[in-house]
Amino acid sequence: MHVHKLEKVWLAIGFITLVAFLTTVGIQAFASGHGAPSDLTKVDPQNLEETEPFDDPGLHEIGENEYELVMILQSYGFTPNEITIPEGATVHFKVASKDVVHGFEIAGTTVNMMATPGYVNSTSYTFDETGEYLILCNEYCGTGHHLMSAQLEVE
Ligand code: CUA
Repeated sequence: MHVHKLEKVWLAIGFITLVAFLTTVGIQAFASGHGAPSDLTKVDPQNLEETEPFDDPGLHEIGENEYELVMILQSYGFTPNEITIPEGATVHFKVASKDVVHGFEIAGTTVNMMATPGYVNSTSYTFDETGEYLILCNEYCGTGHHLMSAQLEVE
């Protein structure tokens, strides 16, 4: 089979580009340990309920209209699953999964992250509008995935 010389050149360029790309990504992910910013703190999912702050899940006031919300995710629910906060509250979410990868999305807000077992996944949000917010799992996690939700009320 005859392959045109220019075709060989382009194949080589494509191959070199691929290797360079995978090397860069590989070094960042494994050697430098650059993960998603929500995945920086590790936690043992087997002993989640004995590990701070997950030994006391729920809403904790930490400042003026500022809260930390500690949540445990597992198939197929959130603990706690009903939360009420005042209007204008800033909430620092700390969530961890006990079993598989779950999603943590609050509909109508910019809160949307993965809950990867073994990590404390965190983000913050200020709730300036009152109403009922739906917290839902947006990563397929099994047969009960569609049942996995919680309510957050801002009043
Ligand atoms: Cu948890 Cu889908």
